Formats: sequence, C-alpha cells, structure tokens
Amino acid sequence: MYRKRRKIKKKVIYLGIGLILFIILLITGILLYKHFTSNEYKLGKIGYSEKEITSILKLDDTYINYALEHKYDDDLIQLTNQKWFIWKNYDKYKDYIKDLEKQPAEVNYEDVITKVNTKTNYKYYTHTEETNMDLGYGILVNKYYSLPNQYAPDDIVDIPTTYSFAGNQIREEVFNAFKEMADAAKEEGITLIVNSGYRTYEYQKNLYDQYARENGEDFADDYAARPDFSEHQSGLALDIVSYGLNMDNFAESDTYKWLTENCTDYGFILRYPEGKEEITGYAFEGWHYRYVGKDLAKKVEKSGLTFDEYYAYYLDKD
Ligand code: DAL
Ligand code: ZN
Repeated sequence: MYRKRRKIKKKVIYLGIGLILFIILLITGILLYKHFTSNEYKLGKIGYSEKEITSILKLDDTYINYALEHKYDDDLIQLTNQKWFIWKNYDKYKDYIKDLEKQPAEVNYEDVITKVNTKTNYKYYTHTEETNMDLGYGILVNKYYSLPNQYAPDDIVDIPTTYSFAGNQIREEVFNAFKEMADAAKEEGITLIVNSGYRTYEYQKNLYDQYARENGEDFADDYAARPDFSEHQSGLALDIVSYGLNMDNFAESDTYKWLTENCTDYGFILRYPEGKEEITGYAFEGWHYRYVGKDLAKKVEKSGLTFDEYYAYYLDKD
C-alpha cells in the first residue's frame, strides 16, 4: 500500500517536471518564433542597423512594408522624415537621387522633395501635362502644367477704368474679389490698379515671342509664360500696381506691402515670391496675384509654400 502510494507520488512528480519542461519549451518556441518572424529581425536581416530599425518601425505601415519587401534602402528614413514627402513620388525621388549621386555634392533631401514634387528636377517645359481643370479656381498653371490647347474662359468681363488701365478684362468672380480688395485698400489710402488681366492665347504668344526675339528665349522664359502656360490666359491672374509705380520700384512700395498683408483676405496669393524663383520658374513679381478663392488663399498662406508646392502636396490627387 505504502509502496504503491510512493510510486504514484513519483509519477506525479515526473509528470509535473515533464509538464514544466514542456511549458518552458513551448514558451521558448513561441518566443523564438516571434523573434524570427518579427519586423525587427527581418529588417536586421535586410541590413538595417538597430538605430535605423527603430526609425523605420516608427513610420506608417506602408513604409514599413516597403522596407520589408525591398533590399536595403539608405534613403528611406531620410525621405520619409521630410515634411513634404509624398509617397507616390517615391520612385521619382530615388531616380533623382541616383542622378545627384553622380555628382560629388551631398544629397540635400529637402531639396530633392521640393524639386521632385514641383517637377523642377526636370528642365522647364519638359514633362508637361494638361492641368486638371476640375479644380476650378485651384488649377495649377506653370511651366509643367498647361491649360487646354488655346483655352479661353467664358465668363470674362471688362474691368472699368476706375480699377484698371484701359482695355483689361478678367473672369467675373475675380473682378468682384478685386473690386472688394481695391475698395478696402482705397480706405487705407492705397489705390490698386490692374495693369494686366486676362490675356488671350494670341496675346500671350505675341508677348512671349517679342521677349524672345528681343532678348532670347532664356530671358523670355524668366519673365513671360509661353502661350497655354500663362495664368493670365486662365483669367485668374492680375498684375496689380498703383499710379506712378513700375516693375523696378514696386517691391519697395506701400502698395506691395499692403497687398502682401491683405491679399489672401480677398482670395489672392502672391504667385512668384522673392527667393522662390527656381520653384515657380519666374523672376520675383511683386505685382502678379493669382485668384484661388478665399479659403484656399488662406491655406496656401498658412502653409508657407509656393502654390506649385502646395498643389503637389494638397491638391494633386491623381
Ligand atoms: N509674367 C507671367 C509669368 C506670365 O507671363 O504669365
Ligand atoms: Zn502677371
């Protein structure tokens, strides 16, 4: 009897030990399985350092999956950490970086993002496409995005000479917005006068051709758009001055100051700011304002971006 009980006790002990060993093995197995199937392990296997893995694992799933499915990519973290990074441009960023790496200078990732987003990594008037007219007052017209061939808006009105030099026209909503702005400026002692508004395809063509004939194409491209590539032809841009001001003294004028401080309240943005020439493709034009509507004008201003950059990040949804 006593022997039997001892035997049973022994069995229970062995069983207990066996069970414990089994559990230990099971846990070890699970932990090992978890380790070898973890993203951390896989990224390490691809070649990322511990520091890089920590950075990658902080990114969105899309980027983590990209890293897992591709071979080691030393640009991934730098690019995805840039504020204006656009995922659909990833391959283009990489192609551009490859080009840059043929030169000795270090890659400036912020610059890569800006250039690729705005297509300015390409020569002006190459890689052009017709702009998305569905965006209404938010369309982008520049050296890469054209209006439809010989486009002409159908709501053009004459601008009365109280607001303009003779002969200028503009789209109706833009005129109403300008009128509101000019009336407000007047109350503060500033007279706003339209120097140039809507231009037809032919007008823009003649203007560009004349600049090119007299000063060469490079000069012409700095100051005038080619036909179908001009905001003036869209009927959404106005060159705004005051009597007695010209292109040379405008930037120092109270009129320019007033416009920069107030234009977005009326739906206009300064389209070709100083220091952004490479992005916009044009020399600084303190007088050229683009109507985008009040809501969008405020958003563009808040972003601190040129309209070209803003468009790429927020409006271009193709
Ligand atoms: N001066 C501007 C860029 C135009 O010609 O449309
Ligand atoms: Zn202009």
